[in-house]
Amino acid sequence: MAAKKELGIEDLPGVGAATSEKLILGGFDNLMAIAVATPGELTDASGVTETAARKMIQAARSMMDMGFQSGNDVFEKRKKVIKISTGSESFDQMLGGGFETGAISECFGQYGSSKTQIAHVLCVSCQVNDPDAVAVFIDTENTFRPDRIQQIATGLGLDPEETLKRIKVARAFNSDHQMLLAEKVEELIKDGNAVRLVVVDSLTAHFRAEFVGRGTLAERQQKLNKHMHTLAKIADIHNLCIYVTNQVMAKPDAFFGDPTEAIGGNIVGHNSTFRVYLRKGKKGTRVGKLIDSPNLPDSECVFEIVTEGIRDV
Ligand SMILES: Nc1ncnc2c1ncn2[C@@H]1O[C@H](COP(=O)(O)OP(=O)(O)OP(=O)(O)O)[C@@H](O)[C@H]1O
Ligand SMILES: [Mg+2]
Repeated sequence: MAAKKELGIEDLPGVGAATSEKLILGGFDNLMAIAVATPGELTDASGVTETAARKMIQAARSMMDMGFQSGNDVFEKRKKVIKISTGSESFDQMLGGGFETGAISECFGQYGSSKTQIAHVLCVSCQVNDPDAVAVFIDTENTFRPDRIQQIATGLGLDPEETLKRIKVARAFNSDHQMLLAEKVEELIKDGNAVRLVVVDSLTAHFRAEFVGRGTLAERQQKLNKHMHTLAKIADIHNLCIYVTNQVMAKPDAFFGDPTEAIGGNIVGHNSTFRVYLRKGKKGTRVGKLIDSPNLPDSECVFEIVTEGIRDV
């Protein structure tokens, strides 16, 4: 999906110096960013009319080879996918090697099921064999623990201080702030950070707390959808791994099977490429179950949480 010639946003119809400057300030500094934007986003960023924004998007799309790719091209792109290890062989195997870049992976489960522990592990293990790698941790529940990172780094033979330096942490104070932080990841990348991983822990807690009552459900789902689209877009454009966590709620009408279900319903489920259900197992172990993967069989793994991260039992 490369631009045909060296075309830039100033080659778009109706984009003069002033508009171009506003677009760049708004983060729309290349044709790809415009091609995948919505008219509303461009209107907000540059003040152009919606009609003009539509024309810009159309033009950017035709300047880019954005339509169909051959299977070979997809295959080539898939070769660039990096798999981030969990430290547990059975967990990695279940995922086909680890948590993938270019996709959104979701872990959902009850409190203490290890969602946050895995987030910490990934922030460290993405740095193994990749000294430039940067991890972003969007922390909504104040659960990021530097000392935990140091333990895991030491376990993997990395320098704990250097490892911490390569993790950019931001507290998200509400859902709007969380959405904004996800959009800001592109700025980190533009500033030269080789972001390989973006953690959102928890994806749904703010949304769940802020939108209570049946009347607000549609708005909540709409915002959550937009947030996940932002994440999916950066995962795809920058080949980075998105790891999000999600709580479960009791399903009062469940007579059979598991009496819980993930928050966020179809919106979260459909936007996540990999979904893992985590639960507590016997004797302090944890059980992960892969659900609905595009290319892997549904399967389970058992692991435990240790000082060095997580590992096979
Ligand atoms: N250093 C450690 N060594 C072993 N186990 C640990 C260590 N640190 C934390 N744990 C275990 O990890 C568990 C907490 O897991 P985690 O915080 O990842 O849960 P969670 O799924 O994120 O839950 P929540 O829904 O509350 O956010 C606790 O049971 C705790 O005992
Ligand atoms: Mg947690």
